[in-house]
Amino acid sequence: MTDRELVERAFTMLERAYVPYSHFPVGAALLCEDGAVFTGCNVENAAYGSTICAERTALVKAVSEGRRDGFVRLAVVGGGADYCWPCGACRQMLYEFAPELELLVARGDHEFVTLPLAELLPHGFGPKSLG
Ligand code: THU
Repeated sequence: MTDRELVERAFTMLERAYVPYSHFPVGAALLCEDGAVFTGCNVENAAYGSTICAERTALVKAVSEGRRDGFVRLAVVGGGADYCWPCGACRQMLYEFAPELELLVARGDHEFVTLPLAELLPHGFGPKSLG
């Protein structure tokens, strides 16, 4: 799957986003090394802090299906004019399973940039930090 195709998979998730409070839909698509793709959207909650972001939705879908490694790329997209940068909690959750993950970060006009997660979370705290 090309980077463009993964970004467009993430865009298809915008319509699934449950965003009655922020009205800011986010979509994500997580590519595994065997070609499997796990998608996600943000799911908000009346107790605002219980909201889960699109990236974490995709990640927990993958982990709950038995995946723990082999994640290679994650696309995250929003409808806004700016790039949809992953929040701190998502960066941390992704680092747990894929410290070498490449991110494709898009904005509403479908332009995207590619950069490593490690650039957004330098010196991350992960499983090895506990050893
Ligand atoms: N959001 C995500 O889904 N991913 C991020 O990394 C940033 C924020 C969602 C959470 C909330 O539903 C909405 O965007 C506004 O913060």
